[in-house]
Amino acid sequence: MKKKIVLTRRWPEDVEKSLAEVYDCEFNQCDKQFCQQQFKAALQSADALLTTVTDKLEPETLAIKNRRVGIIANFGVGYTHIDVGAAKQNGIVITNTPDVLSDCTADIAMTLLLMVARRAGEGERELREGRWSGWRPTHLIGSKVSGKALGIVGFGRIGQAMARRAHGGFGMEVKVFNRSRVSDAALASCNAVQVDSIDELMQQSDYISLHCPGGDENRHLINADHIGAMKESAFLINTARGEVVDDDALISALSANRIAGAGLDVFNNEPALDQRYLKFENVVLLPHLGSATKETRDGMGYRVASNLKQYFAGEQPADRVV
Ligand code: DGY
Repeated sequence: MKKKIVLTRRWPEDVEKSLAEVYDCEFNQCDKQFCQQQFKAALQSADALLTTVTDKLEPETLAIKNRRVGIIANFGVGYTHIDVGAAKQNGIVITNTPDVLSDCTADIAMTLLLMVARRAGEGERELREGRWSGWRPTHLIGSKVSGKALGIVGFGRIGQAMARRAHGGFGMEVKVFNRSRVSDAALASCNAVQVDSIDELMQQSDYISLHCPGGDENRHLINADHIGAMKESAFLINTARGEVVDDDALISALSANRIAGAGLDVFNNEPALDQRYLKFENVVLLPHLGSATKETRDGMGYRVASNLKQYFAGEQPADRVV
């Protein structure tokens, strides 16, 4: 008998096909977000639930009676949308998909950094709207990236991939804030230095890029005080999670021109981003595209498949996080 799995969203076609060869799959043909009732039904009817970042799994849902699901295999590295405490309490295994998305997420962070520094969004809007009057020495002057100081918050796989790009590609001086001590080898690979506090990082950096996990633990990690410690000429880049930044604090700093700009790929309450961001020319906004390449999305799907295979074979899944 094939194991039954429920996918909460559409996945890359090739991955869905390969899952269908092994499992009795329930696909989400219309790709609409599940409600708690649908999660509950899936938890009772399937052996595995395959979630993504848009699935908020609440304690009451995870505690459903007559649950059949033993594993929630998440398509994505971040899993703070799943109540980890409740999953643990109910003996549900959770896996994620690290590694395969580090390069592409770091690429998007670098894209945002370059776009906001070099005013690429503004320039494109001007051109598309027919407002470009031609080259002139004072037109859309941005900030130089090469050789500047980049502050990285969170030096995991994605933070390190960002540091490699910044140091190797742009000769940037890399500074790191990380809760635990980073190994000398990891720092040396991009000539980085670790600082002891976020404020220190803010004060010394021309660009700050966030690469820490989200969730309650890091909610508003970047608050008004930290933003207040940034240089007036500095930019904030967020490809981590929306809740890491206090929107009111960032918007108030942008309104008062206390920082130079921001590049955001993630938001609180996605997709209903705070509309106040839309008025700023010096803010680049992307719709959570960090891992959105064919190679990476396929890689994420196959990583889930490999975790499932190990789990159903009675082994420890390689990417078990709970
Ligand atoms: C992740 O992997 O957590 C991305 O943010 C979305 O998939």
